Amino acid sequence: MMRAGGLLKLAVLISILFLAVFLAFELLESNMNFNLGKVLARYAPAETVPTKPPRHKCNLSKSCPEDHFAFKITSGAASVVGPKMCFQDNVLMSGVKNNVGRGINIALINGKTGELTKTDSFDMWSGDVNQLIKFLKEIEDGSIVMMATFDDPATKLNEEARNLITELGSSSISILGFRDNWVFVGGKGIKTKSPFEQHIKNNAETNKYEGWPEVLEMEGCIPVKHE
Ligand SMILES: *[C@@H]1O[C@H](CO)[C@@H](O)[C@H](O)[C@H]1NC(C)=O
Repeated sequence: MMRAGGLLKLAVLISILFLAVFLAFELLESNMNFNLGKVLARYAPAETVPTKPPRHKCNLSKSCPEDHFAFKITSGAASVVGPKMCFQDNVLMSGVKNNVGRGINIALINGKTGELTKTDSFDMWSGDVNQLIKFLKEIEDGSIVMMATFDDPATKLNEEARNLITELGSSSISILGFRDNWVFVGGKGIKTKSPFEQHIKNNAETNKYEGWPEVLEMEGCIPVKHE
């Protein structure tokens, strides 16, 4: 009788022990889950705010050094989309601004202050080249000269006009032809060739558009003039 009672007590004791251990594990586990959740949350990236890439003046691919002007210049696309000139984040000429035209588009900028002095366009398909020559002769020393073509920049272009543009630092103006695309940034009074020039020939074999070569785009930084 005593033995049976003892065995029963033992069985109950063991049962309670198992239950206690089981409960303890359950508690521990839920507790760990809870903590783990907190820990994970701490290491997970905080609010994933999409970081915008830095924007540079004129949407340049990189920013210009101190004491430089930023520019971007795009030629016209066939006879449809006009050229675009941006200087220090200001759009100087564009189709949207409605101040571009067929031929050669020109913006003049003060090389010291970066201020826009003048914009104009000269129709070289049916216009008068003497107007372009007059404009070129009147450019003040120290001016930055931005030029971009639209449609046909060359039919009316003559030696005198080409020479005046060569003096601004151009290398390609002498061979600019019918419906070529050309973008250029030079300076009045510079003694060297400008590094800022791109030229693409109108060539039926390689043209991107029917009758016109592809659009040219050029960006760069121009040192501020001090003397
Ligand atoms: C820069 O790019 C944005 C987005 O395409 C455009 O809206 C803006 O006009 C551009 N700025 C210039 C100065 O071209």
